[in-house]
Amino acid sequence: MYVIMGATGNIGSKLANILLDKGEKVTAVGRSAERLQPLVDRGAIAAIGDIADAGFLTKSFKGVDAVFAMIPPNYQTKNFRKDYNEIGDHIVESIQGSGVKHVVFLSSHGAHLPNKTGPVKGLHDVEQKLNKLDNVNVFHLRPTYFMENLLANVGMINNMGITGGGIKADWKFPTIATKDIAPVAAEHLLKRDFSGKTAHELLGERDVTMNEITKVFGEKIGKPDLKYVQFSPEDEKKGLMDFGMSDDASEQLVELSQAINDGIMAVGRTAKNTTETSIEEFGDFFAQVYKSS
Ligand SMILES: NC(=O)c1ccc[n+]([C@@H]2O[C@H](COP(=O)([O-])OP(=O)(O)OC[C@H]3O[C@@H](n4cnc5c(N)ncnc54)[C@H](OP(=O)(O)O)[C@@H]3O)[C@@H](O)[C@H]2O)c1
Repeated sequence: MYVIMGATGNIGSKLANILLDKGEKVTAVGRSAERLQPLVDRGAIAAIGDIADAGFLTKSFKGVDAVFAMIPPNYQTKNFRKDYNEIGDHIVESIQGSGVKHVVFLSSHGAHLPNKTGPVKGLHDVEQKLNKLDNVNVFHLRPTYFMENLLANVGMINNMGITGGGIKADWKFPTIATKDIAPVAAEHLLKRDFSGKTAHELLGERDVTMNEITKVFGEKIGKPDLKYVQFSPEDEKKGLMDFGMSDDASEQLVELSQAINDGIMAVGRTAKNTTETSIEEFGDFFAQVYKSS
């Protein structure tokens, strides 16, 4: 039996489906019976509750082979880092209370750094907490910037006729499709081939620039002249707040753009941390979302 936190999310849902496809038993954690129903229809057990409740999590973790742990981002929070730390404490408490021995933790590229990485700082803190657990094997999965983040540009294209953000237009950076993250998590949950505390980055198919991404997406949606505009930190923050994010969440995402622009999170690309899906392939999905918007 495997417990999947965030089972209705980008990665958790894909991961739960991979395990169900293989005939494994899955407990799917989320807050809504309705959103978990598609997994229940495929044989999963729903664990409905809030992960702020460590008792609920401990109960879900009892007697299982391995856990996929993740921290849901809350873009309305007053303090992103504090939030991640509090949920991290609940996860640690639940691991200790349940006796589970294998955990795959969804962390992030850049989580080796303690500061200047926006939301990733909180994942660094949680990695450190998990590393202190005795006799528990933890695999920190550190994927880079999700291609799915780029879907936020659909609204911008519709409203302003451009794409834009805080990342420099001509700066190559790694980006990954979430469908390439879930199989790696599944493989390690199933094989439990990790011991002690280990970390593994996932950097997507190749590094690309925002100009290249915009060209690919523009051609896919029939707007070959689509332009990317780099916003100032002030304009990026204002845009994120107008989009409904809190002051702190917006601040953290601006800091993350800066970290990408400064290249401080860089780790070497290898065959092992390179994944399949290209930005061109993701562009087909982007175009579908754009056309149905
Ligand atoms: N975006 C990036 O570029 C990037 C890169 C590297 C790492 N990361 C990290 O990846 C993680 C996000 O992964 P994701 O995109 O797969 O997540 P996601 O799509 O945002 O999904 C969040 C999941 O958490 C569940 N959830 C939210 N609040 C909950 C609560 N209080 N109690 C129980 N369940 C709750 C949601 O389910 P319900 O709403 O149905 O309850 C949903 O299943 C974050 O930790 C982020 O920092 C992100």
